[in-house]
Amino acid sequence: MAETNTSSGGRPALPMQGVPQPSRDQVLGLPRVHISTHPVMAHKMTALRDKNTLPPEFYRLVKEIGALLAYEATSNLSLESVAIETPMEPMIGQRLAGGIGVTPILRAGLGLAEAFREVIPDVQVWHLGLRRDENTLQAMEYYNQLPHRIDLQVCYAVDPMLATGGSAIDAINILKRRGIPRLSYVGIIAAPYGLLKLSQTHPDIDIYIAALDERLNDRGYIMPGLGDAGDRQFGTL
Ligand code: PRP
Ligand code: URA
Repeated sequence: MAETNTSSGGRPALPMQGVPQPSRDQVLGLPRVHISTHPVMAHKMTALRDKNTLPPEFYRLVKEIGALLAYEATSNLSLESVAIETPMEPMIGQRLAGGIGVTPILRAGLGLAEAFREVIPDVQVWHLGLRRDENTLQAMEYYNQLPHRIDLQVCYAVDPMLATGGSAIDAINILKRRGIPRLSYVGIIAAPYGLLKLSQTHPDIDIYIAALDERLNDRGYIMPGLGDAGDRQFGTL
C-alpha cells in the first residue's frame, strides 16, 4: 500500500488515505446481496457513468435504472387474496399485502424514490436528509419526515451511492428504530468497503445494487463510479 501522507496534526490529510479496503472478490459472496447481471442494466449504467451525460439525461437514467432495481427488490413481497369481478365473471385475484415504504436519502435518493413510485404508485415516501461531511465522511441527519404511524410490510432505503456505507447504515438504524418489520437497501453503485460495512452492520436486510465497483479514492469517492450523484441529477456541478 502507498505511503500515507499526513496533515500537520499527524492525521491523514484525506479521509480514506491509507485505510485498508476489501477487494471486489472478497465481497462478491456476501449473503443477501443482490448485484444486477441484466444486460439492459449494464447498457444503461455505461450511459449513466459517462461524464458527457448531462443532468436531464442522467436523471432520466437514474429513474430507468431505479425501475429495474424496484422490480428486482419487490419480487418477494407478500400478497393477499382479493375477490373481484372481471367483466366476464368473479375471480380471486392477488394484491400486495400491507403498505410499501420508500425512504430516499436526500438528496441523491430522490430519483430512485421517483422510480419506485412509478412501479408502485401508492408507495409511501418517507424523506430522510443525511449529508456526508466531506472531511470526516460522517453522515449528519438534517431532515426527517418519517411518520409515527407504521403500517408497512417493508421499507426500502434508496440512495444511488454506497461509498463508505455511513449514510446507508445510519438510515437503516433510523428506520429500525421505527419498528418496520422488513427493511432493504437499494442503490446503484457500491464500493466493496461500504458494501461490507453495511452487510456486516445490518446482516438482516437485503441489499440490491446495479454495480459493484473497484474501490474508494482517498476522498471517499467510488472508483470508477460516476462522480457526485446528487450534483449530476440536479445540475449543481
Ligand atoms: C452522497 C450519496 C450518499 C453518500 C454516500 O450523498 O448520495 O448519500 O454520499 O456516501 P457514504 O456511503 O460514504 O455515506 P451526499 O452526502 O454527498 O449528499 P447529496 O445526496 O445531497 O449529494
Ligand atoms: N457520493 C457520491 O455522489 N459519489 C461518490 O462516489 C461517493 C459518494
